Amino acid sequence: MGQKKVIKKEYRITVVGCGHVGLVTGACFAELGYRVCCVDKDKKKVNNLKKLILPFYEPGLFELVEKNYKRGKLEFTTDLKKAIRNVQVIFIAVGTPPNPDGSADLSSLERIAYLVAKNLNSYKLVVEKSTVPVQTGEKIKETILRYRKNSKPFDVASNPEFLREGKAVHDFLHPDRIVIGVESERAEKILRDLYSSLKAPIVVTDINTAEIIKHASNSFLATKISFINAVARICDLAKANIDKVAEAMGLDPRIGKEFLKAGIGYGGFCFPKDLEAFLYISKKLGYEFSLLKEVKRINEEQKKYFVEKVKDYLWILKDKKIAILGLSFKPDTDDMRFAPSLDIIEFFLREKSKPILYDPQARKEAEKLLKGKKVKFAKDPYQAVKDCDCVCFLTEWEEFKHLNFKKIKKLMRMPLIADGRNMLDKRYLESLGFKYLGIGT
Ligand SMILES: NC(=O)c1ccc[n+]([C@@H]2O[C@H](COP(=O)([O-])OP(=O)(O)OC[C@H]3O[C@@H](n4cnc5c(N)ncnc54)[C@H](O)[C@@H]3O)[C@@H](O)[C@H]2O)c1
Repeated sequence: MGQKKVIKKEYRITVVGCGHVGLVTGACFAELGYRVCCVDKDKKKVNNLKKLILPFYEPGLFELVEKNYKRGKLEFTTDLKKAIRNVQVIFIAVGTPPNPDGSADLSSLERIAYLVAKNLNSYKLVVEKSTVPVQTGEKIKETILRYRKNSKPFDVASNPEFLREGKAVHDFLHPDRIVIGVESERAEKILRDLYSSLKAPIVVTDINTAEIIKHASNSFLATKISFINAVARICDLAKANIDKVAEAMGLDPRIGKEFLKAGIGYGGFCFPKDLEAFLYISKKLGYEFSLLKEVKRINEEQKKYFVEKVKDYLWILKDKKIAILGLSFKPDTDDMRFAPSLDIIEFFLREKSKPILYDPQARKEAEKLLKGKKVKFAKDPYQAVKDCDCVCFLTEWEEFKHLNFKKIKKLMRMPLIADGRNMLDKRYLESLGFKYLGIGT
């Protein structure tokens, strides 16, 4: 038994990409006892990581990186060739951003497959961790076969990642399920071994199926959000309460309560691009996934609808000071990629309003993305709301629920709250004299 454990820990792993998925994957495998080499093409990122400066905010990650780096289980490099040659298992966790036509940009994966082929000095298991369209595994395999200089064996596998930013470390170490798409027993055994200390059901399937599982999961979650947002619109029209509708719906185990929260819609690096990529690949394969087009349309409209609500109340938005509390696409992260706040700020700017922004973590990222725009940043929520005509809550940060609203009311020019996440207590705020605008409430 002890012997078996020792053998397992001898797997050496390379993780390509030190982003939200790659760094968490690397740190967590190191925590599980494996020797992990994390590779990134970004020299600055790698140099910072060697100094224990992390590229983004993720609760609990720093501690894992620090501990495992110091005990020699985790290393960082830009030398991908060496990192391929030294190990048996290579996880690809690079970005797969959207191309202008909606397809996923897979050029980084092709480059890595090419380098695996050129550095195939022993058996390698190449694992897709990045979210990729179905049949990408086939392309990776073809690429390695095309460029390899010898007949050393290799396998390709799909092991999609389901972690959520803000809860990434917990999600990696306590997953709901582990999906393994393989085409050999050897690959299946390695992946089963690697995850053997985690308690989660393992779904083993072929590579195409595993790739579809990830796209279908994210598209389904996005569909749930757009569905409840569409119902929220009806609630607004009929003067019903979406939170109660969602609560009662969610108690049905066939529906479930997660992702039934009405608001300004989904954002982030995953849902928008994965939905686009799923639409694109479905069409390419011969199926028009119209349902997803509607999901996307509802999501886009939701942000405009939110600004329209504020406009309906204030009548003229020009020169109005609008405090925006919450910029990241969700709480507990500083990730601003495809954050709904960006579109909402843009709508206010088009109306010539004066946005004043605050976020507990995402200010630095937001400053980069909003460079040159007529926005101001505040150092805390109270500074943001001072003399404002409206305060918009766009991210469900816990600290916002505990603000001193009596103080906020005194500071504001006009006590108007637009709650884009239905996260505040409407009755309480109204009792303080605020005008409260929620979504479907
Ligand atoms: N962020 C999430 O919550 C999440 C969850 C599940 C799955 N995913 C998927 O995982 C993948 C990675 O997402 P992310 O959020 O970690 O991206 P990210 O942008 O945070 O990180 C990607 C990293 O890869 C590096 N990189 C790109 N090309 C490279 C190359 N050729 N060689 C070495 N390094 C390279 C980049 O420099 C960057 O540091 C995507 O496909 C995404 O859809 C993301």
